[in-house]
Amino acid sequence: MRASRRQVLGILGVGGAVAATGGLWRAAGSPVGSTGALLRSAGPLPERFRVPLPIPREAKVVRGRGPGGRDRVELVARESEFEILPGRHTRIWGYDGTFPGPTIRGRRARALDVVLRNELSVPTVLHLHGGQTPPASDGYPTDYVLPQGVSEPTVMGPQGTSTSVTRTYEFPLKQRAATLWYHDHAMDFTAPNVYRGLAGMFVVEDEQDAALGLPTGERDLPLVIADRSFGADGDLLYPALFADRRGPGVQSRFMGGVLGDVVLVNGAPWPVHEVDAARYRLRVLNASSARRYELVLDGHGSARPFVQVGSDQGLLERPLQRGSIVVAQGERSDVVVDFGGLPVGARVTLRDTLDPDVVGGILILQFVVARKAADESRVPEALASAASMRVIDPREVTATRSFHFQLRADGGGGGGRSQHGRAHPSGHLWTVNGVTFASGADVARPVLGTVERWRFTTDVHHPVHVHALRMQVVGRNGGDPRGGDLGWKDTIDLRPGEVVEVLTRIEGYRGRYVMHCHNLEHEDMAMMVNFTIV
Ligand code: C2O
Ligand code: CU
Ligand code: CU
Repeated sequence: MRASRRQVLGILGVGGAVAATGGLWRAAGSPVGSTGALLRSAGPLPERFRVPLPIPREAKVVRGRGPGGRDRVELVARESEFEILPGRHTRIWGYDGTFPGPTIRGRRARALDVVLRNELSVPTVLHLHGGQTPPASDGYPTDYVLPQGVSEPTVMGPQGTSTSVTRTYEFPLKQRAATLWYHDHAMDFTAPNVYRGLAGMFVVEDEQDAALGLPTGERDLPLVIADRSFGADGDLLYPALFADRRGPGVQSRFMGGVLGDVVLVNGAPWPVHEVDAARYRLRVLNASSARRYELVLDGHGSARPFVQVGSDQGLLERPLQRGSIVVAQGERSDVVVDFGGLPVGARVTLRDTLDPDVVGGILILQFVVARKAADESRVPEALASAASMRVIDPREVTATRSFHFQLRADGGGGGGRSQHGRAHPSGHLWTVNGVTFASGADVARPVLGTVERWRFTTDVHHPVHVHALRMQVVGRNGGDPRGGDLGWKDTIDLRPGEVVEVLTRIEGYRGRYVMHCHNLEHEDMAMMVNFTIV
């Protein structure tokens, strides 16, 4: 049974006028579409642009020391406490105790092992988002790394393989240079686990990217953007349905997603960063649960353009000047910004224009030009090779599939089944093609080496993420793709009622993978399905 319009509104908490167009929902409360409810912090919020932008530490990669000469990184998932809000302490769960986790730099076609040790009190799973990874290392949601002293996973759902305390994830990295990220992917608890800090950047490098002359070193900046809310004591607030994690999900009001009121960049609230008067490469990642952003740069009296050079799966064919950049949850955008020509002391502000609650949008990050400096970088007219960007020929398509992302009412009032098999009090669940994840069935069994056309449709806003595969967006709402669809994609931003068509070549490895909504609250409330590459 479909949820009635009022049920959808009640659950999404969008409020305001909502118009149904051709049976499709449009949430006017957030016109361009975050789905979710704002969680207000208790206690005073920090002032804008006071805290310096932290640059995540680089993970120590031991080159060629793993079995068979593989590169190797060791990570520990653990709790730690540090200062996110000035003067207050926040307990987080982080890789090596930091948020974001250390940035891992891998090299194309050079196998890298990540050895994860779980020192948390809960099971965890690590997933390399955007990685082309064999199934055993892809972070299937029930392939747990169990904490010390726990021998059996207590969560129901599709069967996985669990290990005790440590697990080695093997990443072949036979893929283009790209800005990827790694994060927790535990069944039913990905949203609270990532919210507490289990996420970090993963950059795949190659010679072609390095030879372009794009800004490097301190001028190649990871920007992990994530909204969070804080309690008066400085700890993170999260509206879990069960504080003791006895079951998954969030309180009904937040069923559409949790929107924080503090925007962190690299783990700091609305930070400030001193820059040279030169070009910078910004690797923007939206690591938020439910918030999507449309970023603009206000510079020194006028808007400044971004030059987009890459998207989810690496470089675009040529650079593209953009007035704004939309990043949905899980998406990445590589942009070059030129502070050259600005006087010392000039301030340039990165701002999100989508927030309906804040007039003028949310201020996110401020750059201050601190010094004149030489700049040898450039943005060449040709970025990726034509061969690596070759358009998939639609005549090669051997199968066409449709995936519908929607809220489902299971009779209301407790009939709904979470992935756990427990009822969510609202009686609703987020589903793909009406199926819940716990069934374990495959929604698709694409054949390795073939080409498929996939059609995604939605009710409200859902960013659709597919593991293991990369996609070319060929159509949106019957027309051309949007700017954010450019290049090779692993995460597709679907606004309310949208229809997106992609072509994908089934590459990589045979086995079972997942596809899901990257609104993490939706993912934890069943909006995930299995597919198996055969
Ligand atoms: Cu970024 Cu399946 O996740
Ligand atoms: Cu992923
Ligand atoms: Cu969703």
